[in-house]
Amino acid sequence: MTFDERKGMYYPTDDIIDQANVKEYEKRYQSSIENPESFWAEQAENLVWYKKWDKVLDDSDKPFYKWFQGGKINIVHNAIDRHLKTANRNKLAIIWEGENGDVTTFSYHALNREVSKFANVLKSMGVKKGDIVTIYMPQIPEQVFAMLACAKIGAVHSVVYGGFSHEALSERIRDAESRVVVTADGGYRRGKINDLKSIVNEAVVRCPTVEVVITVRRTRQEVYMESDRDYWYHDLESLPIASIKCETEETDANDMLFLLYTSGSTGKPKGMIHTHGGYSVYISTTHRLVFDIKPEDRFWCAADPGWITGHSYMVYAPLINGATIFMYEGAPNHPYPNRWWRMIEKYGINILYTSPTAIRGLMRYGSSWVTRHDLSSLRLLGSVGEPINPEAWRWYYSVVGNEKCPIMDTWWQTETGGFMITPLPIMPLKPGSASKPFFGIEAGVVDENHQPVKPGEEGALVIKNIWPGLAAGIYKDRDKFIETYWKKYEKEGWYLPGDSARIDEDGYIWVLGRSDDVIKVSGYRLGTSEIESALITHPSVVEAAVIPLPHNIKGNAIHAFVVLKDGYSASRELETELKNHVSSEMGPIAKPDEILFTVALPKTRSGKIMRRVLKARALGQDEGDLSTLEE
Ligand code: WTA
Repeated sequence: MTFDERKGMYYPTDDIIDQANVKEYEKRYQSSIENPESFWAEQAENLVWYKKWDKVLDDSDKPFYKWFQGGKINIVHNAIDRHLKTANRNKLAIIWEGENGDVTTFSYHALNREVSKFANVLKSMGVKKGDIVTIYMPQIPEQVFAMLACAKIGAVHSVVYGGFSHEALSERIRDAESRVVVTADGGYRRGKINDLKSIVNEAVVRCPTVEVVITVRRTRQEVYMESDRDYWYHDLESLPIASIKCETEETDANDMLFLLYTSGSTGKPKGMIHTHGGYSVYISTTHRLVFDIKPEDRFWCAADPGWITGHSYMVYAPLINGATIFMYEGAPNHPYPNRWWRMIEKYGINILYTSPTAIRGLMRYGSSWVTRHDLSSLRLLGSVGEPINPEAWRWYYSVVGNEKCPIMDTWWQTETGGFMITPLPIMPLKPGSASKPFFGIEAGVVDENHQPVKPGEEGALVIKNIWPGLAAGIYKDRDKFIETYWKKYEKEGWYLPGDSARIDEDGYIWVLGRSDDVIKVSGYRLGTSEIESALITHPSVVEAAVIPLPHNIKGNAIHAFVVLKDGYSASRELETELKNHVSSEMGPIAKPDEILFTVALPKTRSGKIMRRVLKARALGQDEGDLSTLEE
């Protein structure tokens, strides 16, 4: 790439442009938003359908949009089955490296065999089309098999991130009313075993719907197995019933593919619904065009399948596009800070897609851990999950990418299914900006009066039209979907993501962060209200308020203000106890960085906690308008 100092922009070189899957943006973008339905119908032709759709977009029940209505498709038919009839059959679908050095690979043929077996095991346990199976696993190939196996038989998966506590897990199982849970006897993280099975054991005690727990053996550590409920996967898989032949179910384009729980600004996590049709079209198109996917690519999305990035771009999109996915089980710095770079060199990875937190975390060890490795296989880099600060961008670009790999800073959400605002490899880049809307997406930044802001001014990010990756709703909560995303701009019909942003003279969008009560910590999405609720369940706490404060590795740190009940007094011990309490209620990712004891919280007269005031005070900034503050 070449750097234009005056403009502060990085330009792609001819070789990047020559091989790009998209050679021109502006004209194609214009035509895509003038006629999005024909743009998406054209993209949908790249997939195999059992039956073509009758209607591209059915908007008769806004905002519950239905794409490719009447079509019959299964994402697994596209991610696996169709490759078996081509040269892809013997190509590697998955290369997996365990933290302890175990390595396994699966060709598309082998992947089909494993997924079919898993699907038959699920069937033998009574799983039927439409049933929701909860998956709580470490990053091992069986996690991917389990997801694909559900989809293959038309069941719905609900993957819960392996870092969540038993409380968080059981809440999600209860909401989904899963009868079957899939887990493992553990996974490796920083040389230790993550004891997932015990967490499941504890969680399902409070889940009356759970009848079957299937456990995959990974670590061989001793785990408690309850008779008549718990089954080892390796026992089931050796039964005749687990044959390697399993027909893929023909699902409707709008049948549920998965639920993924995500935090919002209020209440408990919401189960976002994605479907087989629109989602497949959206993620495969964005992946192919933004990451310029070539048949020989080895693609590494270093996210956990427990989050949307793992669903869309670690598992489904790369498989649909016939790429080879690389998957790593453990911590980036284990046993040394060159673990990632060693694996990129070893496997010849072409594209690395990760988060600013991971980049900053590795950057702090110094460049020599990176430069001792030959990373010349890398062609493109990607970033997701939070705004990337220019310093981390430049390090990623120059040290990891050796000044030749464009960085695709992709802005999107669990709700959007796939990339919404992102550069393409042919675009000039500005460090810290996610660039421009993808084809078929109309994005804007607006003020309080819903009018476009002037270049450089901060406003609310909005999406002004509908796209096929958009979630079909929130599981069992129609109203919440409407209220959270559509109410504010009801008249205009716009989607509200909850982020604030700026747009510059060149039309580049700069996403600044959440403008609601969602916190991004290390790229993980948490609700302040969930952390506050966790604090309040401790006997000493009467009230709590949580705010994010800037953190130079994690992006945001969690600061909690706590009011104690009479009879309790502030102490270092209590502070530690409260931190551990949140960690065990929600999971270590939600553990507050700091707890401040206070006698009262600033509130409006109607009793709402004014987190803005707490934040301003903590940062030593102007507290703004305090006229609504209670005495
Ligand atoms: C944030 C993750 C800036 C944003 C895919 C969004 C980003 C939230 C970016 C969604 C980015 C994601 N630049 N901010 N490139 N990507 N975000 O649902 O605040 O876990 O609303 O989806 O992450 O988080 P979620």
